[in-house]
Amino acid sequence: MNLWRKLSGPRRAVALAGASALVAGGLVTIPVTAAHAATQCSVTYSANQWQGGFTANITIRNVGDALNGWTLGFTFPDANQRVVQGWSARWTQSGRNVTAQNESYNGSLASGGSTSIGFNGSWSGSNPSPTSFTINGVACNGGTTNPTTSPTTNPTTSPTAGPTTSPTTPPTSNPPGGPRVDNPYLNARGYVNPEWKSKAETVAGGNRISNTPTGVWLDRIAAIEGTDDSQSNGPMGLRDHLDEALRQNAQYIQVVIYNLPGRDCAALASNGELKADELPKYKAQYIDPIAAIQGDAKYRNLRIINIIEIDSLPNLVTNTTNNPGGTAMCDTMKANGGYVQGVGYALAKLGAIPNVYNYIDAGHHGWLGWDSNFVPSAQVLREASRASGASAANVHGFIVNTANYSALREPYARVTDSVNGQTVRQSKWIDWNQYNDELSFAQAFRQELVRQGFDSNIGMLIDTSRNGWGGSARPTGAGPTTSVDAYVDGGRIDRRIHKGNWCNQSGAGLGERPKAAPEPGIDAYVWIKPPGESDGSSREIPNNDGKGFDRMCDPTYTGNARNGNNRSGALPDAPISGAWFPAQLAELMRNAYPPLS
Ligand code: BGC
Repeated sequence: MNLWRKLSGPRRAVALAGASALVAGGLVTIPVTAAHAATQCSVTYSANQWQGGFTANITIRNVGDALNGWTLGFTFPDANQRVVQGWSARWTQSGRNVTAQNESYNGSLASGGSTSIGFNGSWSGSNPSPTSFTINGVACNGGTTNPTTSPTTNPTTSPTAGPTTSPTTPPTSNPPGGPRVDNPYLNARGYVNPEWKSKAETVAGGNRISNTPTGVWLDRIAAIEGTDDSQSNGPMGLRDHLDEALRQNAQYIQVVIYNLPGRDCAALASNGELKADELPKYKAQYIDPIAAIQGDAKYRNLRIINIIEIDSLPNLVTNTTNNPGGTAMCDTMKANGGYVQGVGYALAKLGAIPNVYNYIDAGHHGWLGWDSNFVPSAQVLREASRASGASAANVHGFIVNTANYSALREPYARVTDSVNGQTVRQSKWIDWNQYNDELSFAQAFRQELVRQGFDSNIGMLIDTSRNGWGGSARPTGAGPTTSVDAYVDGGRIDRRIHKGNWCNQSGAGLGERPKAAPEPGIDAYVWIKPPGESDGSSREIPNNDGKGFDRMCDPTYTGNARNGNNRSGALPDAPISGAWFPAQLAELMRNAYPPLS
């Protein structure tokens, strides 16, 4: 992984709007028993809401006699709640009363069968969930519950709740895999990569974290089929992982699409196999086969979350040679359109599959947080989302901090702080950046992306696999007020030597464990970089993977303009990027924050 920022001086602050979208859960399970046996049923209603809008998913389970045609009725508790657009049923609303009549393909509900329907709605004031339902005109508001047939578990934990939760019993009502939910992580169980799990368990104490979902990196064409001869992939190919996800009853899997031509144009450690002019090969031999596998109907009830092309598009803004220290390869990739067209193609092809969720990589605050980089990067992301037949509808969201080390929050060094009348933005550490932590950046960048024309429902992911910065060195309060530098350096959570350091950082710890909807605008904290996999070798190691030697991974290197001529802060004795580096996992566990028990 490379990161890099353009040096910039104080600039006009970007106006950032206040309230951001949030995902909040409203979830009720209503056991419903009709007056006579023929229409016994239970209904689960769950809503994910944000300011002014919500998505409701409803599961009707028939626990009585077979139904041939059904109409669900309910009443919104609030006069301002509205059905805007529904699916898998014919929806009508009159006043606060809503009815949903079956479609031709889901009208028959066998005894014991269930069907899932849903709608997007709007609200103002409050958005309480309805508490009673009718089926075929028969009031079923709680009535007498048949304990043997009513749901006994809250759907947040029940693998049978919701349209995409039970891969072994596909729902009958939805089109394959669809419609997409607003937040694919919410109440969903993630896929645990058995190859990473077994490596993690070779390190003492690794079993404490080895059941954590991590990204499956397709970092070369051969990784699609699975290969044993490279250092970072095991024999499992994409199909093997998807099959294993079904076996695990997982509800989502995270796949990293990472093989652009001229990959990682500003660093050497993660250079890839495709040459700058091999866009046609990227499309035909990499994206097309992935799309064919992900589109297999067998996987239609699994949420396939694609993390699209780490570090690529921001490099076109900050690392072309019109920037200090830019590279000729970034110039080439900008001029030949390989990144923009490649990302667009991936979005269009993979986004056409109804159960696929595309999240594009969007750098991190220590790269794009300066005014000079912030809006231009959002614009390049927009350009790519419209290239090669893609549209903004193919983008579910963005991910920041992938494989990086930026702290989630800096409670003791906020950009709004000042010391003796001087803003801390002028400290060496912050260096006039508008952000000093990843959460504030992610939320603000989301707003900018919406301003640039992305859907207002997009969600952000933050890779927290290695941004914990715990251990004994974790500050518990602000630094001394003797100077802005003393204040910031004393209080900051991120203990790197410089924000521009990106390779195998010494002192880093595991960050927040994966978590859905942790903050407004954030779909999830995720572990995309599998902890214990190297960022790059600390000395030159010949290999057949195209991986170069980047001195930012050499602990003896004293740096360059990109990291303020500081030491690299990298761990010694590291193997090439992607290869297993057990000493790093041990260190990450030691310094984990929140700590491991
Ligand atoms: C490497 C990939 C590897 C990934 C995950 C990247 O830096 O270039 O080969 O799969 O990290 O460890």
